[in-house]
Amino acid sequence: MTTCANLEKLSVKEAMKAEHIGKKVKLNGWVRTRRDSKAGFSFFELNDGSSMKSVQVLAPNDLSNYESELLHAGIGCSIEVEGEIVESPGKGQATEVKATCVNVLGGCDPASYPLQKKGTSFEFLRTIAHLRPRTNSFGAVARVRNEICKSIHNFFQERGFIYVHTPIITGSDCEGAGQMFKVTTLDLNKPPLKEGTKSGEINFEEDFFGKATNLTVSGQLSGECYATALTNIYTFGPTFRAENSNTSRHLAEFWMVEPEMSFCNLEGNMEVAEAFLKHIFRDVLNNCEDDMKFFAERIDKTVLDTLTHIVNSDFVRLSYTEAVDKLLKSGQKFEFPVEWGIDLQSEHERYLTEQVFKKPVIVYDYPRGIKAFYMKLNEDEKTVRAMDVLVPGVGEIIGGSQREERLEVLETRMKESGLNPEEYWWYLDLRRYGTVPHAGFGLGLERTVQFVTGMANIRDVIPFPRTPKSAEF
Ligand code: 4AD
Ligand code: MG
Repeated sequence: MTTCANLEKLSVKEAMKAEHIGKKVKLNGWVRTRRDSKAGFSFFELNDGSSMKSVQVLAPNDLSNYESELLHAGIGCSIEVEGEIVESPGKGQATEVKATCVNVLGGCDPASYPLQKKGTSFEFLRTIAHLRPRTNSFGAVARVRNEICKSIHNFFQERGFIYVHTPIITGSDCEGAGQMFKVTTLDLNKPPLKEGTKSGEINFEEDFFGKATNLTVSGQLSGECYATALTNIYTFGPTFRAENSNTSRHLAEFWMVEPEMSFCNLEGNMEVAEAFLKHIFRDVLNNCEDDMKFFAERIDKTVLDTLTHIVNSDFVRLSYTEAVDKLLKSGQKFEFPVEWGIDLQSEHERYLTEQVFKKPVIVYDYPRGIKAFYMKLNEDEKTVRAMDVLVPGVGEIIGGSQREERLEVLETRMKESGLNPEEYWWYLDLRRYGTVPHAGFGLGLERTVQFVTGMANIRDVIPFPRTPKSAEF
């Protein structure tokens, strides 16, 4: 190790800009490759995650540790570099760094390092999720995911929505589907039992919270409390579903952003959802050029055209009844037969977005029997003011609705869904005291990242996926 001077630090991304030519700077990062030329130089490709591209570092053989250290430093090593940013004679990059000092901070044995230069499958990379962010694909996914989150906050902040933090541990089941992870400190081998119950029901009064609790499936109900005071709010955080779906679009832990708007109906809700998605796609197109070029070249040729097209065109709006009609008349053979009243399956959603319309479709007014208790009942009493936004490739990306603001109707719908209204007394209070028409939706962050990047499997757009039988790392 030699001692470098202490020069101004630049990220790799900055060091690649022509405006810095002539500056003497310090860079840190990890070596992607090293190549030794006969002319007495070594070339390091240095990456620090700030951009898709790596900067080329030219290390002359007169550096004091050239033979002892640098000729042994290859893929995976962490290094510090000091030198001058110079114009690059090579094509495809504006600058390179002529090193005056290079130190190896952390060595890396190439024989045992699991990430080799050769392309590795996404399946294999899932088994080394702690190292996969060092690959081009996962670096790009992380940066695009970050851009989407920034865009989500900007969209709502620019429109005066208040960011509300809803709890992760709750005693209620927002979707009423019972797909919840229990939260308990009871001894599972010897839980306290309710006295006098034959089947030995667990006595949750003795549990940490004095009642049965679970991880939230959605922040919506808490969000409604704040929307019926602050008008426009959003919540954005992790949500949990104990559904045993081993598909490329389901996670047991995923992130959801949920706006909730008072004095808003289903039409208003659809307008916000459409503007919101376009805003996100536009930001990614404008701010993630290199990463998106990578996805278009390596993952899915169509992503750039698809996003550009969506940003510049209107979403289709179609009632559930019309959608079922289209599917019935399609002449298409579906695995799940279509009839009015069924929940649309992925194959139906994809047929509508990919074959019929070739763009996002908002399906609304679903049958009451297949949707959650809180959705406003239509006058026909058969359908509710629900909406799902469907996109090509992914299917449902947004689920939302106008909420039932009438106390009696809401109580009836709760009972119909097998929920006990008494346990939701605080939620019903919102209808007792100054009730208002209101609406909202939930956007799945991972499905958005999937759609934008073209990544086929949802496990590859979240750092550490939680799925049935899998919670390593
Ligand atoms: O349609 P969902 O279940 O709607 C709600 O939870 C409402 N409470 C939202 C609201 O109105 N505030 O879920 C919303 C979105 C889905 O459209 C999907 O994008 C995503 O969340 N999602 C999942 N993403 C990954 N894995 C899963 N298991 C998901 N379940 C839902
Ligand atoms: Mg849904």
